[in-house]
Amino acid sequence: MIGTIALLAVAALPAAFAQQNDTSEAALSFLFPDFCCTALTLSPLRERLLFPGQTAYESRLDSYFDIKQQAITPNCIVQPRNTKEVSLAVKTLTVASILKPCKFAIRSGGHTPYAGASNIEDGVTIDLRYINAVEYDAKNSLVKVGPGSDWDKVFTTLEPLGVITTGGRSSTVGVGGLTLGGGISYFSPEHGLICDNVLEFEVVLADGRIVTASKTSNPDLFTVLKGGNNNFGIVTAFKFGTFDYDGMWGGLVIYPETTVQDQFKALINFSNNIDKNPKGAAIVMPVYQSAVGADLILNAYDYAEPVPRPAAYDEFLKIPGNISDSTGIRNMSSLAEELAGATTHSVYFGTLTFANDLRVMTEAHKIYKDVLANLKAKAKGDWGIYVLYQPLPPSYWRQSAARGGNVLGLERFKEQVLCLYQPYISWQGSEQDALFQGAGADLINKIRDYAKSIGADNPYLYLDYADKTQDPLASYGPENVKKMKAAAKKYDPLGVFQNLVPGGFKISKVA
Ligand SMILES: Cc1cc2nc3c(=O)[nH]c(=O)nc-3n(C[C@H](O)[C@H](O)[C@H](O)COP(=O)(O)OP(=O)(O)OC[C@H]3O[C@@H](n4cnc5c(N)ncnc54)[C@H](O)[C@@H]3O)c2cc1C
Ligand SMILES: *[C@@H]1O[C@H](CO)[C@@H](O)[C@H](O)[C@H]1NC(C)=O
Ligand SMILES: *[C@@H]1O[C@H](CO)[C@@H](O)[C@H](O)[C@H]1NC(C)=O
Ligand SMILES: *[C@@H]1O[C@H](CO)[C@@H](O)[C@H](O)[C@H]1NC(C)=O
Ligand SMILES: *[C@@H]1O[C@H](CO)[C@@H](O)[C@H](O)[C@H]1NC(C)=O
Repeated sequence: MIGTIALLAVAALPAAFAQQNDTSEAALSFLFPDFCCTALTLSPLRERLLFPGQTAYESRLDSYFDIKQQAITPNCIVQPRNTKEVSLAVKTLTVASILKPCKFAIRSGGHTPYAGASNIEDGVTIDLRYINAVEYDAKNSLVKVGPGSDWDKVFTTLEPLGVITTGGRSSTVGVGGLTLGGGISYFSPEHGLICDNVLEFEVVLADGRIVTASKTSNPDLFTVLKGGNNNFGIVTAFKFGTFDYDGMWGGLVIYPETTVQDQFKALINFSNNIDKNPKGAAIVMPVYQSAVGADLILNAYDYAEPVPRPAAYDEFLKIPGNISDSTGIRNMSSLAEELAGATTHSVYFGTLTFANDLRVMTEAHKIYKDVLANLKAKAKGDWGIYVLYQPLPPSYWRQSAARGGNVLGLERFKEQVLCLYQPYISWQGSEQDALFQGAGADLINKIRDYAKSIGADNPYLYLDYADKTQDPLASYGPENVKKMKAAAKKYDPLGVFQNLVPGGFKISKVA
C-alpha cells in the first residue's frame, strides 16, 4: 500500500513540509501517538522495530557513547538487515511525511558525543547496527565493511590474514560516522585519511534508490561523501583499500605533567619529520581525572611495523620519569581496545587547528591549567579532562586528489604542518553541563584567539571532533561548500536529509 503512493508522494514532499503547522501536527499526533512508527509497522520492516520499554530498545540507547544521546527516546528504532531494507525505511518515512513529517536519525556506532547527532526525540532512529559485515576480497586488495561495524571487527578480521586498512584508533567507534567525517588512523601518515582510502560507497539516496559512488560512478557524490557526513544519503557499505600488515609497536605512556614542555618539543619535531618516518603516529594528551587526582601527560605512540622503540620516537623516549608504559609489539586491535571509551558520562568534544608551533602549545597549556583549576574548585562527582594534540601533516592530504578527492579543503594548506587540538571532557549530572561545556568552549575560544594574535591560526575544524556549536562544513572553504550544496541539490532535490534528518552538521545551514 505504501509502495503505490510512493511516486505521488515524492512530488508532494516539499509542499507537505511547508504546509504542516503545529495545530495539524498536534491533531495527527493525538490520533496516531507514533504515526511514523505506525507507518513502519505497516511495512515489511515491522519485524525490525524496537519500541520504548523493550529490553532491546533500552540496551540500544545504553550503547550510545554519551549519556545525553542515551537519554533521547525515539518513538521507535528500526534496525534494517540489508541495503534494501534501508531503502524501504527511507521510502516509508518520506511517504508518510506527506501527512506528518517523519523525522529520523541515522546511527552507526553512536559515538558522536553531542545529543541528537545520531538519535532523535519524537522521531525514528535508523540503527545500522546489523549492517556490519566485514568481507575481505584478496583479489582486489579491499575490504567491504558495513557502516554498523565497529573498528574492532575490521581489525580482528584482517589481522590474521596479514593485511589491514586505515581505521579508527578506538575499538568501539563506528565505521559509518568516523569515515564520513574524514577519519584519522595510525596509518594515515603513510596512507592518508580514512575517507581517502574508500574506493567505493554504496548509498541509499533520499528517494530510496541504491547507487554506488566511486571515482568512475557518481564521482561528485564520491567526493562529497568524504567529509560531508549525512547530507547526501545513507551509506550502506564502504569498500576500503587494504595493505600488508605484520603487527605494530605501540601503547600508552603516562608521565608527570612537569614534562609537558619536553613533550611539546618532541611532538613538534615528530610532526615536522613525519615524511621521513611515515610509519609513526603520536598523540600527546595532558589529562586530569578526578578519580586519580593527579596532573598527568598521557602519550600514545603507534608505529605501523613491529619494530621495538623505533628511532622516530627518540626524542620522546629520552623524556625520563614515566609512571606507566604499555608499549610493546602489539596488534592494532589490541591498541584500539586500550582506547575504548566508557559510556557512563556526558561528554564534550571540541576541535581547533593551529600551526605546529611551540608558542601556541605553551599558551594552550597555560589556558588549560586555568580551566582545570576552575573545574577542580567547582566540579562534583566523577569527571575527567583530556586535551589531545596530534599531528595534522601534509601527508594526510597529499594523495587525496589522486584518489578522487575529498571536501575537507586541506590542500589549501599546502606544505604547512598543522596541529589538531581536541578537548575531551566527561562528567556526570546535567546540573554541571554549563560548567563543563563552558570549560570546553573557553579552551577553544581562548586558544583560537591567541593563535590568531600571532598569526598561527588555521580555519579547519575537524567534523568528527566538532561540538554542536561549531561549523565544520563551512571550515572546508567556499569551493567545497559550493560542491556540497550542489551535490545535496542533485542527489536529494527535496531536501530529505536537510529537513527530515536534523542530526549532524547540515550543509543547508551553511551560509
Ligand atoms: C572513544 C572515541 C574514539 C575516537 N577515535 C577516533 C579516531 O581514532 N579517529 C577519528 O578520526 N575519530 C575518532 N573519534 C571521533 C569519531 O570519528 C566520531 O565520534 C564519529 O562520529 C563516530 O562515528 P559513529 O558511527 O560511532 O557515530 P554516530 O554518532 O553513529 O554517527 C556520526 C554521524 O554520522 C552520521 N552517520 C553515521 N553513519 C552514517 C551512514 N552510514 N550514512 C550516513 N550518515 C551516517 C550520523 O547521522 C551522525 O551525524 C573517536 C570518538 C570516540 C568517542
Ligand atoms: C494550521 O492549521 C489550522 C488547523 O488545521 C488551520 O486553521 C490554520 O489555518 C493552519 N495555519 C496555517 C498557517 O496553515
Ligand atoms: C596479532 O594477531 C595475530 C592474528 O590474530 C596473532 O597471530 C598474533 O599472535 C598477534 N600478535 C600479538 C603480538 O599479539
Ligand atoms: C628538535 O627541533 C629543534 C628545532 O628545529 C632542534 O633544535 C632540536 O635539535 C630537535 N631535537 C631533536 C632531538 O632532534
Ligand atoms: C618508562 O620508564 C621505564 C622505567 O624507567 C623504562 O624502562 C621505559 O623505557 C620507559 N618507557 C618509555 C616509553 O620511555
